[in-house]
This record gives sequence, C-alpha cells and structure tokens, in this order.
Amino acid sequence: MEVIRAADYDELSVCAAEMIIQTLKSKNDAVLGLATGSTPIGTYKRLIEAYRQGRVSFAAAKSINLDEYVGLGENDPNSYRRFMNDMFFNNIDIDVRNTYVPDGLNKNIQQECMRYDMLYKRLGGADIQLLGIGVNAHIGFNEPADKLVAATHVVKLSQSTRMANSRNFASAQAVPEYAVTLGMAGILKAKKIVLLASGEAKREAVAKAVYGDIDTHAPASFLQLHDNVTVICDFCLAK
Ligand code: PGA
Repeated sequence: MEVIRAADYDELSVCAAEMIIQTLKSKNDAVLGLATGSTPIGTYKRLIEAYRQGRVSFAAAKSINLDEYVGLGENDPNSYRRFMNDMFFNNIDIDVRNTYVPDGLNKNIQQECMRYDMLYKRLGGADIQLLGIGVNAHIGFNEPADKLVAATHVVKLSQSTRMANSRNFASAQAVPEYAVTLGMAGILKAKKIVLLASGEAKREAVAKAVYGDIDTHAPASFLQLHDNVTVICDFCLAK
C-alpha cells in the first residue's frame, strides 16, 4: 500500500481529487466508486471547482456508491442519495441517471442487495474507489465482526458507528439501525482504491489497515490483499 502524508485536510482533498481527475482524463467514461461521510466532502468540493474551471467533465462518467441506510430515500436529508446529490452530483455535469446508490426504500431489501451486485457486475466494478474509514476500521458499512460478507448485504450498524454518524440526526437512536453496503468483494474488485483519513482519531484504524494482521475485526486490513491502494492521511502514520 502506498501511504501519502498530506500536510492538512485541504492537501488531502486536492490529492484525492487529482487522482479522480487523472482517472477521467485517461478514461472519460470511468466508473467512479464514491463514498459519503465528512472526509470526502473536500474532495467533492475540489472536483466541483475543477469542473467549473473546465478542467474535467463527468458527462460520460458513471458512479456507484458504497452504501445507504435502510429506510431512507432521496427525500430524507440524511440519506446518502441526498448527500451525494447535494454535495456532488447536482454541481457537476454527470447524468444523474448514471449515478447509483442502493435504494434504501426497496421493501424487499434482500432483492435490492442482489440487484446492486448485478449492477456492479454490469458496470465492471469501479475504475477508482474512494473510501473513508471508521474509527473501528470499517470500510463502507462493513463493520468489525467474526465473519465478513463478500456480496452486497444488509448490515446491523454498530453502536460506535451510529454514534459517529449521529451528527446530523436528533440522536444516535435516530440513526437507522440497518444499512445496505457493498461487501468486501465489491470493494476489492475496484481497479484502484484511494482511502482517505483525516484527523488523529483515525490513526489507529489506518495503522491496522496498513500494518495490522488481516482481521475481520478490522475490515480495512483486507485492503492489503489489493495491489493498487493509496492511503492519503493528514497525520503521521508512525509504525
Ligand atoms: P467520516 O466517516 O468520513 O465521516 O469520518 C468515514 C466512514 O465512516 O467511513
């Protein structure tokens, strides 16, 4: 794994945005694997800026997101579909019909997982996959557990994740209990993976991902199995 130490959050965001721009320059119809959370917001801002400056176009691109809360849809301000529309898609020239986020409102959620896996397969996986990381070393919503699931699946969110994600909700209890997430197989199918981590609170999780044993209790450690992963962090990752 390549580790890039950025001076600060802004440099981290520029660095990630430039990697996505490079991907689109070499393949204008690239499939972008995208992530939600606070960490990639700066990257999206930089990409919007580059689009406005005429440096990049997303017109032929497709995107596929990692996850969505079960029970939340586009009309809910806390859904990941809404996050992506507001933070990114509505500000660039991507055709929103080519942007995919699991449908958290599908009444048959198991069927939704299968549909999403088939869709991912049809798209050929992501050319570049952006990832955040949880303080518990989750990626997407693949939470630490005795077993990890390869396919897209429904996951019960850990208390620590619901707490971390409660920022925009009334309380941690108001955060949905379940989410749909791309599994480890989907994530590892991406041609290139860029993991972003900002702030000292993520140091331990990133250290486990980069130097730790491959362990289902630190899902990000499975990234060691992939041969094209870049970690960009704005702290020193001393071994
Ligand atoms: P964050 O979330 O970017 O809001 O810290 C990361 C994650 O949980 O994957």
